[in-house]
Amino acid sequence: MATHKLLLLPGDGIGPEVMREVEKIVGWFARNGVGFETEADLVGGAAYDAHGVSISEAAMARAQEADAVLFGAVGGPKWDGVPYAVRPEAGLLRLRKDLGLFANLRPAICYPALADASSLKREVVEGLDIMIVRELTGGVYFGEPKEIVTLEDGSQRAVDTQLYTTGEIERIARVAFDLAGKRRNKVSSAEKSNVMKTGVLWRQIVTRIHREEFPATQLEHVLADNCAMQLVRNPKQFDVIVTDNLFGDILSDIAAMLTGSLGMLPSASLGAVDPKTGSRKALYEPVHGSAPDIAGKGLANPIAMIGSFGMALRYSFGLIEAADMLDRAIANVLASGTRTRDIAAPGANAVGTQEIGDAIVKELSALS
Ligand code: NAI
Ligand code: MG
Repeated sequence: MATHKLLLLPGDGIGPEVMREVEKIVGWFARNGVGFETEADLVGGAAYDAHGVSISEAAMARAQEADAVLFGAVGGPKWDGVPYAVRPEAGLLRLRKDLGLFANLRPAICYPALADASSLKREVVEGLDIMIVRELTGGVYFGEPKEIVTLEDGSQRAVDTQLYTTGEIERIARVAFDLAGKRRNKVSSAEKSNVMKTGVLWRQIVTRIHREEFPATQLEHVLADNCAMQLVRNPKQFDVIVTDNLFGDILSDIAAMLTGSLGMLPSASLGAVDPKTGSRKALYEPVHGSAPDIAGKGLANPIAMIGSFGMALRYSFGLIEAADMLDRAIANVLASGTRTRDIAAPGANAVGTQEIGDAIVKELSALS
């Protein structure tokens, strides 16, 4: 039996609470024939309290060795005053950088049971299943020069630089086409080639990768502002949306909110494929933070974290049947009305974090 090496980094606040529920799911799959070797370590404020850094070198080495890293959440008011270099978020940034995680995958799925919780009409969002692929390590957040300069007259000028290279666009385009091939085989590439040179290059390269490597996939180009409108008007027209770091930040948040609570949103960040092993570094985490307002109260919705593990099953381990089964178990639990406070139906009783994990485990047994 192949074993998959998982590193669990629960972090702070509700991170450990939601990770405990993932451990129940991992345990269920382990009892049912999927081999996992799990290790855990500290990250964020928890690592700072223990070691004075936001992630230890030992934990970094374990992350490099792991087939997938499951990350909870970091930060909280307790660490507001710690030095910038060792603040809790620095642990996550270090992981992204050292593991070379350049592709951020943010699915937006609307479970039928939650369609009425969306700000849009049920018929617009019911059955929605789109994937936003955001370039994560380039673009205007990192391009140089990046500065605020004081001019001779005493006024100031701020500069950020939007910069993309051929290689950066090629590799994110391949991730998007590859994913689309496993879904409904359509890619929408969003940029602003009408006003930005990076957009012109983006469109050229995506077009070439499509023609040379993925001709069977449907490709459309869409201007990023139009994409934002279409996401709200008719989101089900999309399958995979590929876009740069800045537009991806915004478009993925729009798409996410079509589907309900922060407690429902998983994500994956993928690195390059190692030509020797065919595998790639990957980190899976919920979109939400450490939620200090509800931490320690057993109220957190663990589905974003559990769904992130589902993405690891799918994208790191190729366990498609297991991933589909976990998705079905989550959908069934939601449909049964067993929900945490953030997604409870009006007037219905909410359950706690642990009841959701238990209910999903029970549902997995019922489905198998
Ligand atoms: P947050 O995502 O932690 O919370 C925002 C709101 O959503 C809160 O009211 C919270 O109770 C609720 N919420 C979040 N996750 C939930 C869940 N699973 N179930 C039910 N309700 C949930 O964002 P916020 O409050 O801006 O940040 C809190 C801390 O988390 C800060 O220290 C921030 O820096 C950190 N943070 C960490 C992230 C990470 O680890 N990747 C990402 C975002 C924020
Ligand atoms: Mg954002």
